[in-house]
Amino acid sequence: MHCTHCALFSETLITHPINQLRPHPPALIPTQAASWTKVDLTKQDLSKSEGRAVVEVNGQKILVAEVDGNLYAVSNKCTHLNLPLVGKTAIFQGKVADKCIVCPAHGTAFDLQTGAVKGEWCPGFPDLPFVGKGTASKPLPTFEARVDAAGAIEILA
Ligand code: FES
Repeated sequence: MHCTHCALFSETLITHPINQLRPHPPALIPTQAASWTKVDLTKQDLSKSEGRAVVEVNGQKILVAEVDGNLYAVSNKCTHLNLPLVGKTAIFQGKVADKCIVCPAHGTAFDLQTGAVKGEWCPGFPDLPFVGKGTASKPLPTFEARVDAAGAIEILA
């Protein structure tokens, strides 16, 4: 694999002494190409679970939601504090409203199609001096989702 930073092979760069002096850009780390994965979830399952469910693809928790017949897939980790948008406990049950998933912790609403923050960032976060609301507003990663002829859901991740 060629490094886009310095045009050398990554294997050489990882062991090269110069890299012990400075960190190498993350672009060096090989990434896996996205592929369609059939998950253990069907459209029928979604309709039984308030139109949303969490699946795991390649170690990532992905929230799948159906709104007005459209299927959406987003990261299940809120970009504020990495808390689950939909978890196993009653406290972490984010609601879908206006085609957004609303974080149950501090109320940030993420657009299910684009992942963009809609409205105020962390409206329910306490207004603490110095700490503020933490990191700047960050969108939620999104994924493509589709349904096969048998109703099984597939995610591109
Ligand atoms: S953890 Fe989601 S808004 Fe704070």
